[in-house]
Amino acid sequence: EQPRSARLLGLPRDLTERPAGCPFSPAAKLTALSATGPVHRVVGDDGEDIWVVTGHAEARALLSDPRFSSDLSRSTVAMNRLPKLLRERFLSPRNRAGNFLGMDAPQHTRYRKLLTGQFTVRRMRQLEPRITQIVTEHLDALIAAGPSADLVPAFALPLPSLVISELLGVDYADRGAFQQSTAKLLNLDTPLDEVVEQAEALREFMRALVEAKRATPTDDLLSGLVHADQDTPLTDDELVGMANLLLIAGHETTANMLALGTFALLEHPDQLALLRDDPALIGTAVEELLRYLTILHLGIRRTPLVDVELAGHHVRAGDNVMISAQMANLDEEHYKHPDTLDLTRPRGPHLAFGHGIHQCLGQQLARVEMTIGFTELLRRLPGLRLAVPADEVPLRDNMAIYGVHALPVTWDADAAR
Ligand code: HEM
Repeated sequence: EQPRSARLLGLPRDLTERPAGCPFSPAAKLTALSATGPVHRVVGDDGEDIWVVTGHAEARALLSDPRFSSDLSRSTVAMNRLPKLLRERFLSPRNRAGNFLGMDAPQHTRYRKLLTGQFTVRRMRQLEPRITQIVTEHLDALIAAGPSADLVPAFALPLPSLVISELLGVDYADRGAFQQSTAKLLNLDTPLDEVVEQAEALREFMRALVEAKRATPTDDLLSGLVHADQDTPLTDDELVGMANLLLIAGHETTANMLALGTFALLEHPDQLALLRDDPALIGTAVEELLRYLTILHLGIRRTPLVDVELAGHHVRAGDNVMISAQMANLDEEHYKHPDTLDLTRPRGPHLAFGHGIHQCLGQQLARVEMTIGFTELLRRLPGLRLAVPADEVPLRDNMAIYGVHALPVTWDADAAR
């Protein structure tokens, strides 16, 4: 079995450990570090150096700087750190195809262009009625079986899973397979051989689907992509890579924002009351929850392609750089009282969706899902509250995307509608 530090790509464990009883606070070591400046060189668990960027301005500048690559194979340190099995998989052309999250321009540009039209604000607005319908159906079922439930399997996970499945053209009846594989892949404690097994399972699942869409196109994104670029059609490996990226990014992230966001609201009753009294606050509330919770808690990786001066530090080509979107979102130079959850905070840029050419492709979709999801949840379940003490809510410390494993809640059954 591989130690977790290998999957963390060298991040020291104490930079990932939150203080006990503070599910929404960053690791104490990370907070202490960012108080001393915007850029830091720390020693990883395996003795290798890693740069950690905690300043908002520095993080933003770095994420839009083409000298910093998203292709992890450009990092000598990161590659040497990976166990042989993972490195070989990582470097294989078959596995890299279509996974544009790990590509730089101009390769990245081609894939991103093929998809941007599908993820515009306008296109997402068109999906609103269907998303509302999905939310309504799940809340109906919750109320019928209530007055208590675990919100993760009953609401937070199925909502984005169903939406991305329908958008892509994945049969939702197959959700068991892709949800389980994704969960295992994102679990930092999953043994290496099982990581490989699950990655293969997901590839096979998607390969079968790509073949089916080639044979019989349907009205969905994947069928569209099969026929998207007539001059240079996408290969099956490219389609598998793109679709799996969308499927994984499309359900685990939003699911955790919905569940952790609800937990955060329940633990901040004054803010919850504000939103209940004025549902029109939902727009700023969603942005503030994204900022305050920054579920990509292990940061965003980049590799400098050349030597770079960064806030007075000399960063060498091939070094390992982690941009802490979480600390950037809590930067006192940028936000007033950053540690306070303030749903009325004026809307301003945050780094929860990243920045630059890789800025989240699905952010408008995520916003629509959260807007409708939180609004309807609060409207239909008056008196929503935790059904267990807060310190019994299981936190996703062991996952690449932070959140809660379960959220047992209850509500006023008589008033539910
Ligand atoms: C990229 C966060 C929802 C698809 C990213 C990045 C972040 C992020 C931080 C940038 C990573 C980097 O620069 O290396 C989130 C959060 C979400 C969310 C917090 C939910 C609240 C979604 C959804 C989709 C999606 C619903 C569905 C399509 C993607 C894709 C990329 C991406 C495809 C890669 C973009 C590129 O490389 O050009 N996301 N995401 N995300 N996200 Fe999201």
